[in-house]
Amino acid sequence: MEFSKIIETRQSTRKFSDKMPSEEIIEKTLEAGVKAPTAKNVQPQKIYVAKSEKAISAIDKSSPCRYGAPVVLIVCVDTDNACVLNGHSTAEIDGAIVATHLLLAATDNGVDSIWIEMFDRSTLKSELDLPNNLLPICLIPIGYRAEDCPVSRNFHNRKPLNDIVKHI
Ligand SMILES: Cc1cc2nc3c(=O)[nH]c(=O)nc-3n(C[C@H](O)[C@H](O)[C@H](O)COP(=O)(O)O)c2cc1C
Repeated sequence: MEFSKIIETRQSTRKFSDKMPSEEIIEKTLEAGVKAPTAKNVQPQKIYVAKSEKAISAIDKSSPCRYGAPVVLIVCVDTDNACVLNGHSTAEIDGAIVATHLLLAATDNGVDSIWIEMFDRSTLKSELDLPNNLLPICLIPIGYRAEDCPVSRNFHNRKPLNDIVKHI
């Protein structure tokens, strides 16, 4: 898909069908998370692909926002092995870039997605027995929009360019 079309068509999906994306599509999407830039190329990201019954149940215990997706990408960063620049860790920035790559790649690969912040990190970590050094950045449910999924309430609802951009 043309990059401009990816930007124009991506939207948050809050009602998924139970159709599972193919392994090939999941792998292609994950590849974009591997290719994301990270500070000093340290690559602190770890991405869990949650689709087993146990993993989906752990997601549901930690968040009300799976929206029926059959697969959830859990984007984490290794806080012990992230880059420190100007006295602060870039781990969360790196993780956000990785997550953005995943969202856009999902659109490119024909699957729908949403970025989820609303989850309880400690519940998720204990349910899935994640190592202490991993900080979950976000959940990304992926799959296919349900037939009756409404258009995202904020689809294309953006401030005008002039409110955001200042030429100096
Ligand atoms: C950092 C971040 C956190 C978000 N957390 C949630 C969330 O917990 N639950 C949810 O339903 N949507 C969440 N969203 C989706 C946003 O609400 C959505 O991207 C925004 O309203 C713009 O709509 P659009 O993605 O359809 O363009 C999050 C998005 C971002 C970037």
